[in-house]
Amino acid sequence: MRREDEEELRATSVDGLHCTLEVPVERLALRVGGYVAVEVDGRARLAYTTDVALDPADRRLARVEGRMLDGRGQPFGNGAARTAGPDDVRRWLDAGRPPRAALDVGFLTYAEGVPLALDAGAFDRHTFLCGQSGSGKTYALGTILERLLAETALRIVILDPNSDFVRLAELRDDAGDEARARYAAAAAGVDVRRAGEGDGRLHVRFRDFDAGERAAVLRLDPIADREEYAALVEAVENAASTELGTARESIEQLWASPEPFRSLAQRARNLGVDRWQVWSGNDPGSLEELVQPGGPRCVVVDLGSLETREEQAVAAESLLAALWRRRGVREPMLIVIDEAHNVCPAAPEGPLTALATEHAVRIAGEGRKFGLVLLAATQRPQKVHENVVSQCDNLVLMRMNSRSDLAVLSETFSFVPPSLLALAAEFRQGEAVVAGKLVPSPTLGRFGPRWTVEGGADVPSDWAVPST
Ligand SMILES: Nc1ncnc2c1ncn2[C@@H]1O[C@H](COP(=O)(O)OP(=O)(O)OP(=O)(O)O)[C@@H](O)[C@H]1O
Ligand SMILES: [Mg+2]
Repeated sequence: MRREDEEELRATSVDGLHCTLEVPVERLALRVGGYVAVEVDGRARLAYTTDVALDPADRRLARVEGRMLDGRGQPFGNGAARTAGPDDVRRWLDAGRPPRAALDVGFLTYAEGVPLALDAGAFDRHTFLCGQSGSGKTYALGTILERLLAETALRIVILDPNSDFVRLAELRDDAGDEARARYAAAAAGVDVRRAGEGDGRLHVRFRDFDAGERAAVLRLDPIADREEYAALVEAVENAASTELGTARESIEQLWASPEPFRSLAQRARNLGVDRWQVWSGNDPGSLEELVQPGGPRCVVVDLGSLETREEQAVAAESLLAALWRRRGVREPMLIVIDEAHNVCPAAPEGPLTALATEHAVRIAGEGRKFGLVLLAATQRPQKVHENVVSQCDNLVLMRMNSRSDLAVLSETFSFVPPSLLALAAEFRQGEAVVAGKLVPSPTLGRFGPRWTVEGGADVPSDWAVPST
């Protein structure tokens, strides 16, 4: 950007943490989130730009504010400054790279060809991924999960409401040789569970539920519905001593029994609980079993394959409950919740979602010390329970138009310069600001390419093609 005859730019830092430079507007090449190299004592120090504004006193000048990335705490005056090139950025990243796996999930926006490398070790903290519909959250999430599977040994369970990750074991035709080599072993560890019949069936066992979960399924209140509640407790106790058949058979038995069992059966039928496909018969491999130690490396819970919202809620609830119950084993597990506003909403609708939200909040607050770590993705931060969002240390923010949503994020993730968060309104698909332990400093990047096939049902996009 600099011509020989031009005067050098000069940067000053009075505290060694921030720096300021003034740039003639016609030479302004620095962007918010971009990198600046400053020559101090013969050494290049890197900063990133947080603000660019016109100088109010001289409108031919732009005032650029930055934050120092290295040599922090050492003030300097009048250091020769320039837009940092990819090599400057690469050198700085290499020098500070933690001794852990790096997940190359994409590329930096302002350092061409430099990978957006996430610190795999950051997945011992909760992560919040948000952006409006179509911003590329699910795509980005897939990229993160592929790399985690390939580069680490972390166990993962995915609540997948739109069947987006059902092909997480299948490499794309255009995946390069490197991806193929890295991913082959990981793909074998992916276990996709969906509604239906046979192996790989997604199911939950009523017998494994605790009293609160059972009552939530049947919308029973221990005080208001005390007779039916007591009948339920008794029915489950009796069933535990014999083999429990399918839900339909159990409910038929109750139907043929005297009151209050018959009322209980009636309630179950009225709620449609007997018709849910999600119940285990006597088959092994319930969600509770899959997350035990020794279970599959990665379980994709295809919630989208279940017919009703209630079944999705019971599957999500029982998974989170099972994870919390097994916390004592202290085995690290990444719990991925796509569309988290449905699983742990700010205002839960039914008793099952209320229970699921309770578990999610508990895991957000206390799960980390047991190795239970969340990765929650959503369109609307305000629609997810605030005690889940506020416990997240890592942020991936994709395109987000809503000013009020950005304000909420700015409050929660106050360590990210607001000017960087504000860029989200302009992001193109796949672009993000990443912050927290994932990266050494808040970073702009673009996710991709994916290695595996995106799932989900394709919506035809040729409807606007002129029919000639
Ligand atoms: N980085 C990217 N590179 C290429 N294609 C992308 C990228 N990000 C997203 N896409 C494509 O854009 C479409 C929408 O992306 P995606 O499904 O990830 O959005 P989303 O944020 O999860 O939206 P929603 O909130 O509606 O679920 C997908 O078809 C995906 O293939
Ligand atoms: Mg999505």
